[in-house]
Amino acid sequence: MRKKIIAGNWKMYHNPTDTMSFFEKFKDMVAGSNHEIVICVPYIDVSAALEATKGTNIKIGAQNLNHEKAGALTGDVSCKMLEDIGVEYSIIGHSERRQYHHETDDFINLKIKAAFDHEIIPILCVGESLLEREKGIAKYKICTQIVMDLDGLTTEQAKQVVVAYEPVWAIGTGKTASAQDAEEACKWIREEIRTLYGDEVADAVAILYGGSVKPENAKAIFNMPNIDGGLVGGASLDPDSFSKIVNWDR
Ligand code: PGA
Repeated sequence: MRKKIIAGNWKMYHNPTDTMSFFEKFKDMVAGSNHEIVICVPYIDVSAALEATKGTNIKIGAQNLNHEKAGALTGDVSCKMLEDIGVEYSIIGHSERRQYHHETDDFINLKIKAAFDHEIIPILCVGESLLEREKGIAKYKICTQIVMDLDGLTTEQAKQVVVAYEPVWAIGTGKTASAQDAEEACKWIREEIRTLYGDEVADAVAILYGGSVKPENAKAIFNMPNIDGGLVGGASLDPDSFSKIVNWDR
């Protein structure tokens, strides 16, 4: 049985003071959960988030990283810096970074490999645009991203990757993929990974759904056989709504 992972993506919301008050409330609300709980916060909140979650069942993630060890890279943060401070996960290749920062699959692949060099678990985001879905090439788009982004990983690394299927048209729009459509896409991803890395990896890898997950739709989505949890944006900003999503089965 794969463990469910419920991850939050705060994007560019909340300052360190908000972070402290969020966790003050949230940590007790999810204390008994046996799901893996991860919150990916802005860099500026990492220290406050780590401090506030010490000794709890909540892990802290970043939303991006630079694959270089160090260098003249103004504004960037390396895997080593994240590892040293205690960050355990990082989102990589979110569609907002692909779109606004022109991140390519080759570049995302470098970041994934660098994350593994530093014991940071990558949460790789893949997903099609509305146009690609309408043209019937969603499967092609997603599988191409999987092939390119996961290129050259060892079996052990591939097993640990967390993939988030995030259809671009469902992010922040209030439009959620139906549980059946989300399941279908997550199954495409699992089968592509089976072709690349074999049964053991395909059956172990965690595949999440992301895109307007809310307390009202979490249960139907997380109950699907190929969906191992969610990556939640807007609804992760508030302790009440995010704890309901984490506690979807309680
Ligand atoms: P959303 O964002 O839940 O606000 O749609 C999801 C994401 O971008 O990871």
